[in-house]
Amino acid sequence: MVLIAPLSNESNSSKDRCLRKKTLIIAFSVVVLLALGACVWGAVMTSKFVKVNKKKSIYSEEFDFIVVGLGAGGSVITSRLSEVSSWTVLALDGGPHEELSSTHIDPNNLLPVYSFVSPHDPIITSLPLRAANNKIMYLPRFNGLGGTARLYGGINVRPSPSIMRRWPANWTYDDLLPYYKKIEDHYCYYYNENITGISNEDCRKYHGQYGPLQVNPTYLPEFANVSKLFEPICKDVSQLWGGYNADINGQQHLGCSLFQRYFNRKENRTDEQSDYFLGTSFQGYLQPSVINRGNLRIRSATMVTKILFDKSSPPKAIGVMIQNATGSYTIKVNKEVILAGGAFATPHLLQVSGIGDPLALAQARIPLVATNYHVGKNLRDHVAVPMVLRLKEASSTFPNVVTNSTGYVKSIPNGSKSWIITLNTGLRQDNITDLQIYFSNTNYHSPDLFTNSEPRQCRFGSNGHRETPAEITLRMILQDPSFLGNVTAISDNIHHRPIINFNWESISDYEYGVFNVTIEKFRYLIKNTDWGNLIAEEVYPGIDVPLKTFIDGHLETALHPISTCQMGLCSDTRLRVFNISQVRVCDASAFGEQVDANPSATIFALAERLADIIRFDYNELHQQPQSKTSRVREASGSTISYKTTNNMKDYSEFFPQGA
Ligand SMILES: Cc1cc2nc3c(=O)[nH]c(=O)nc-3n(C[C@H](O)[C@H](O)[C@H](O)COP(=O)(O)OP(=O)(O)OC[C@H]3O[C@@H](n4cnc5c(N)ncnc54)[C@H](O)[C@@H]3O)c2cc1C
Ligand SMILES: *[C@@H]1O[C@H](CO)[C@@H](O)[C@H](O)[C@H]1NC(C)=O
Ligand SMILES: *[C@@H]1O[C@H](CO)[C@@H](O)[C@H](O)[C@H]1NC(C)=O
Ligand SMILES: *[C@@H]1O[C@H](CO)[C@@H](O)[C@H](O)[C@H]1NC(C)=O
Ligand SMILES: *[C@@H]1O[C@H](CO)[C@@H](O)[C@H](O)[C@H]1NC(C)=O
Ligand SMILES: *[C@@H]1O[C@H](CO)[C@@H](O)[C@H](O)[C@H]1NC(C)=O
Ligand SMILES: *[C@@H]1O[C@H](CO)[C@@H](O)[C@H](O)[C@H]1NC(C)=O
Ligand SMILES: *[C@@H]1O[C@H](CO)[C@@H](O)[C@H](O)[C@H]1NC(C)=O
Ligand SMILES: *[C@@H]1O[C@H](CO)[C@@H](O)[C@H](O)[C@H]1NC(C)=O
Ligand SMILES: *[C@@H]1O[C@H](CO)[C@@H](O)[C@H](O)[C@H]1NC(C)=O
Ligand SMILES: *[C@@H]1O[C@H](CO)[C@@H](O)[C@H](O)[C@H]1NC(C)=O
Ligand SMILES: *[C@@H]1O[C@H](CO)[C@@H](O)[C@H](O)[C@H]1NC(C)=O
Repeated sequence: MVLIAPLSNESNSSKDRCLRKKTLIIAFSVVVLLALGACVWGAVMTSKFVKVNKKKSIYSEEFDFIVVGLGAGGSVITSRLSEVSSWTVLALDGGPHEELSSTHIDPNNLLPVYSFVSPHDPIITSLPLRAANNKIMYLPRFNGLGGTARLYGGINVRPSPSIMRRWPANWTYDDLLPYYKKIEDHYCYYYNENITGISNEDCRKYHGQYGPLQVNPTYLPEFANVSKLFEPICKDVSQLWGGYNADINGQQHLGCSLFQRYFNRKENRTDEQSDYFLGTSFQGYLQPSVINRGNLRIRSATMVTKILFDKSSPPKAIGVMIQNATGSYTIKVNKEVILAGGAFATPHLLQVSGIGDPLALAQARIPLVATNYHVGKNLRDHVAVPMVLRLKEASSTFPNVVTNSTGYVKSIPNGSKSWIITLNTGLRQDNITDLQIYFSNTNYHSPDLFTNSEPRQCRFGSNGHRETPAEITLRMILQDPSFLGNVTAISDNIHHRPIINFNWESISDYEYGVFNVTIEKFRYLIKNTDWGNLIAEEVYPGIDVPLKTFIDGHLETALHPISTCQMGLCSDTRLRVFNISQVRVCDASAFGEQVDANPSATIFALAERLADIIRFDYNELHQQPQSKTSRVREASGSTISYKTTNNMKDYSEFFPQGA
């Protein structure tokens, strides 16, 4: 029942083959066990979920705003909207229930760290990509409080002003700058400019202080010699990236730089020796003071199955239908439904609710509520190929790993620097980032990623999988590929996964070219520098493999899907979905075009701006945060508050939601 594809045409030593075989056998066994487990739990959960409460014919509750999804965008908008004390806000997330307590989700501490293999992963895969030898893409997501930003690398990169000019006219980089700043508590305010390289003036111009998310540079000890010996190359202005850039989120967006990440210092903001934990929108924005607001309710393990509309023209959202462990209910909305389910789930929910392309809805036998041709269209992503290098000595990469399984990252300011490179190859006449490169202290290559019918076993290399100790990866991420895909519901049942079609038929010369130019330059560095002396062999692409063959066979999603309800097309620039009323989009699907950056910074900024837009639209710009009085007429249930202490560490009962 589970097939694992044979390894493709890569030239490996027989020793490696053996190693890989072993891994495959282990992976195979785990797959079978997981599949069996999933089947059993699937049966249990299905029986639980079909129990629909038919007696409930009236609304169980009502709120001014209902936020669907507590991921990157949803957490921000929930926090900001609930600052207006006269508004009641309900925020729902379909992911498994989690308790908030010091040992589970503590906003001032680390969050549990998951690999992709988690009960939170809905296991989304794409249709085969013709451009990539008809392979499928596995698209890890995190369903639960914090959303996919619980799984992310926390890398904070803003897009270039040039690429933002493709967005609608009032969503320029300058329009967003106040919001990029608002989210941040940036390290440039805490460390000497001689150390950060960021002048006080630039710090104030480009960065924020006291925002919900700390931004810190990372210095990971495990990069050791690989990182140290790269430093002169990093700083060399004649390289493709133009040398060192102390702040890729400042004046210049290109360069070799230190990662800026949503990493929080655990103890003291300025103590360089303090441990880090990963900052997410949930942790940053939904602190106890927010969650305990009397006008806010947050519920997990609550799936929104439909948005409900009245018969007016255009149809107006009047509530949502939800499903939780006890049944199905309808909840009334007095003002607006804010969609924040992410780039796949948001268009999907619109479609199952009858909003979309009439032809596609008819094919899925979903009754049309309102036409919107752009729901689920314009799916963009970034794509990556790995350059994997075997080192002469394993010690050159991680002699001293201090990351442990609960996810603390000891970041030592005088330790090895962890580089991120953003470059423009000059192949086109533009001023954006063509390619981003991460140095990774592990083999990021995933031979069994594709054509594996059990994608949970896919190895992505992040989340601590260290496949081959003496290998590093330069993960090359193309920022502006040209394909436009779509997300299409197959029925009106939210549990039937939509079809995800990246519609990537072929790879353009430009796309090949960006990888090609960069890989060629790195090959030159390997041959001609001290840094290159650390490297024993180019594992991938492999110097004998034609580059096109390699790229066709090794493209991976960079996990940045966006713009499936694109502002300007699917919604207006106040993010109101066209042809219906009282529904806005507040997540990656709202993106107005591509970004040459990791999406989270822009999702957070977009959500911050949307909060201001909504407050403006309701003339509530000057309200102060709500105090602690309970104002919500509520049904009982698993509302989250920080008083709950019952820890549920075993997620297995929720596993089939992802199966
Ligand atoms: C491994 C990995 C690493 C990444 N690293 C980075 C990085 O370093 N930097 C960066 O900027 N980006 C990174 N990303 C991308 C980033 O995490 C996502 O772009 C971002 O989280 C998307 O935010 P969102 O608000 O659009 O949706 P999400 O964060 O995915 O949130 C959506 C939420 O909605 C909920 N939901 C969906 N449908 C429903 C429904 N019908 N009812 C109720 N709830 C629902 C889901 O359960 C989920 O919790 C990474 C992604 C991955 C997978
Ligand atoms: C920064 O370095 C310069 C030159 O090394 C020195 O003169 C200056 O005092 C330093 N500034 C601070 C704030 O330490
Ligand atoms: C390119 O964009 C950067 C900002 O990212 C700007 O500083 C620079 O002047 C631009 N260069 C050109 C040639 O337009
Ligand atoms: C935080 O750390 C800095 C630098 O180590 C130190 O000067 C400061 O006193 C510390 N503050 C607190 C409150 O501990
Ligand atoms: C999605 O894109 C594919 C490829 O272009 C196309 O065949 C299909 O009709 C599209 N689906 C929808 C619903 O637009
Ligand atoms: C809204 O509906 C009208 C009439 O059906 C249609 O012409 C228009 O294209 C729709 N807008 C979108 C964004 O699909
Ligand atoms: C890597 O660094 C360690 C410690 O600094 C050193 O002992 C070792 O020789 C270095 N290896 C190489 C290949 O330079
Ligand atoms: C990980 O590190 C933290 C902080 O140092 C510690 O409290 C925790 O016990 C460690 N966990 C494991 C599994 O070693
Ligand atoms: C790093 O700095 C700390 C103090 O700031 C010091 O104790 C430590 O020895 C330094 N480590 C190295 C490798 O320089
Ligand atoms: C890659 O670049 C080399 C020159 O650097 C060129 O000869 C080759 O044709 C290019 N290949 C592709 C696929 O672009
Ligand atoms: C952008 O401009 C349009 C046209 O002036 C306006 O209708 C819209 O409200 C503006 N959007 C924002 C977010 O200001
Ligand atoms: C499910 O939601 C309904 C309506 O909000 C609520 O009354 C009920 O308690 C919830 N059940 C659980 C298990 O949370």
